[in-house]
Amino acid sequence: MNDSSLSRRDFARTGLATAAGALAASWVPAAARAGAPSSRYAEIRVGLIGCGGRGTGAAANALRAAEGIKLVAIGDVFRKKAMSSLEALRADGLAELVDCPEDSIYDGLDAYKKVIEHPQVDVVLHAAPPGMRPLHLAANVAAGKHAFIEKPCCVDPVGYRSVQESAKLAREKGLSIVTGTIFRRSNNYVDGIRAIHEGALGDLLFAQARYCSGGIWYRDREAGQSDVEYQMNNWYHFTWLSGDQIVEQAVHNIDCINWVMGGAPKRAYGSGGQRVRPADSEIYDHTAIDYEYPNGATCSFFCNQQPGKGMVWNRIVGTKGEAWIHPFGKTTLTTHGGETILQSKYKGDAYVQEHTDLFAALRAGKQLLELDELNDSTLTAVIGRLAAYTGEEVSFEWAAKESKLDTYPQQMELKGALPAPTVAVPGRTKLV
Ligand SMILES: NC(=O)c1ccc[n+]([C@@H]2O[C@H](COP(=O)([O-])OP(=O)(O)OC[C@H]3O[C@@H](n4cnc5c(N)ncnc54)[C@H](O)[C@@H]3O)[C@@H](O)[C@H]2O)c1
Repeated sequence: MNDSSLSRRDFARTGLATAAGALAASWVPAAARAGAPSSRYAEIRVGLIGCGGRGTGAAANALRAAEGIKLVAIGDVFRKKAMSSLEALRADGLAELVDCPEDSIYDGLDAYKKVIEHPQVDVVLHAAPPGMRPLHLAANVAAGKHAFIEKPCCVDPVGYRSVQESAKLAREKGLSIVTGTIFRRSNNYVDGIRAIHEGALGDLLFAQARYCSGGIWYRDREAGQSDVEYQMNNWYHFTWLSGDQIVEQAVHNIDCINWVMGGAPKRAYGSGGQRVRPADSEIYDHTAIDYEYPNGATCSFFCNQQPGKGMVWNRIVGTKGEAWIHPFGKTTLTTHGGETILQSKYKGDAYVQEHTDLFAALRAGKQLLELDELNDSTLTAVIGRLAAYTGEEVSFEWAAKESKLDTYPQQMELKGALPAPTVAVPGRTKLV
C-alpha cells in the first residue's frame, strides 16, 4: 500500500506505517535501512530554519539518518544562532556533510523564505518557534519542497486551518512531510498501542497523561533588543510563539492519547494558572484538562513546569486491563488480575528514525505525509489551553471550524514593538 493512501483512521490505528514496520524489525544502522541512494535523490540536500537546540539536533539527526545527506543552507532570525549551530555541527564530527557557504547563511524575519527558496534545498528542516510554523510551512509547500517539521505545528485555530490547507496542497503536489512527534516512532509506543488497538485491554474506559517537567529556560532581555527580537529569543514565554506549555511540550502526550483513542476528542474542560513564572511570562505553569473522546472514554491530563516531582507518562485503562507507557522507557500492559500481557522497552533512536523514514520514502518514490495527525493533536492541546484560559468547555469541532482566534501579530518588523504580554484570566479572557 502506498503511504499516501493510508486513511486518517488507519493512521490513528497503526501509528506510522513505515515506523511500525521499521521498528518491528530488529534495530539496524539507520543508513542501511534507508537503502541505496536512487538517482533523483542520490544526494539529498537539506536546509535548516531555526538554529537553536532542537534545530541543530535535527540537522545532526538528518545528516546521520542515511548516506548522501548534506546541509546546504541555514537560517535563523539571529545570525549568531545560525553561526553557532554550524559550529556545533562541525564540532560534532559532521563537518564533511556541512556545505553552507556565507551566501547560504541567512538571518532576519525572511531567513525562512531564503532557506526554502534556496535552489539546492530538497528538504527543509523546520525548528523555529511553533507560532511561526503555519507561515513557514505554507511557504515551504508553495515552493514544492519536502520537509521535516518539529511539533507542534500551530498555536491557534487560524493556524490550524492554515496547516490543513498546507497539508491538502502538499498531498496534491506529492510532497513528503514528516513530523517531530517522536513517540510515533518509539518502538515501545508502537508495540503497546498496536496491542491496545487489537483489543488487549478490552473496551477503553479512561486514560491519564502527565507532562510535569520541572522548570524551563528564560532568556533575559538584552540591551537594545526590540520587543520582536526579545520575544523571538525568549519565545517560550509568549503564547503567540509557543502556544503555552500544554501545546509546546505536552502535545507529545496528547498525541499519544489521540493515537490510542483513534482520533481527536470531542471537547475539553479544565483549569490552570501560573505561580512561579518570571514577571513577563504569559504562559501558565500548571494546566489540568479532562478530554472526552467519541468512544466515551475520558482522558485526565495534567502538565506543569514547577519545581517538584517531575513525571511524564501515559496510563490507559480498559475493561480487561491497563497500560503504562513511559517515554524512552518501558510500555507494560497487564490484566486487572496483574498478569503481564506485553512489555516493550525503548531501543534505537526515534529522533534519527523520523529522517530515515523521510529519506527512504523520497528514494522509493513514495509520499509520506503526516501533517493532519500532528495538526489534530496540536489543536487538541490548543482547546485544552483555551478551556483553561477562559473557564469554558471548548469543542474540538468548534475550534477547528469556527473559532476566529489568531494570535499572530498583525504587523511585525524585527525592530518593532508588540503589545504588552498579558496572562489569561478565566471570566475575563473570552473564547473567540
Ligand atoms: N521533538 C522534540 O522532542 C523537541 C524537543 C525540543 C524542542 N522541540 C521543538 O523544536 C522547536 C524549537 O525548539 P528549541 O528547543 O530548538 O528552541 P530554541 O530556542 O533552542 O531554538 C529556536 C530557534 O528559532 C529561532 N527563531 C525564533 N524566531 C524565528 C523566526 N521567526 N524565524 C527563524 N528562526 C527563528 C531562535 O532564534 C532560535 O535559534 C519548537 O517547536 C519545539 O517545540 C521538539
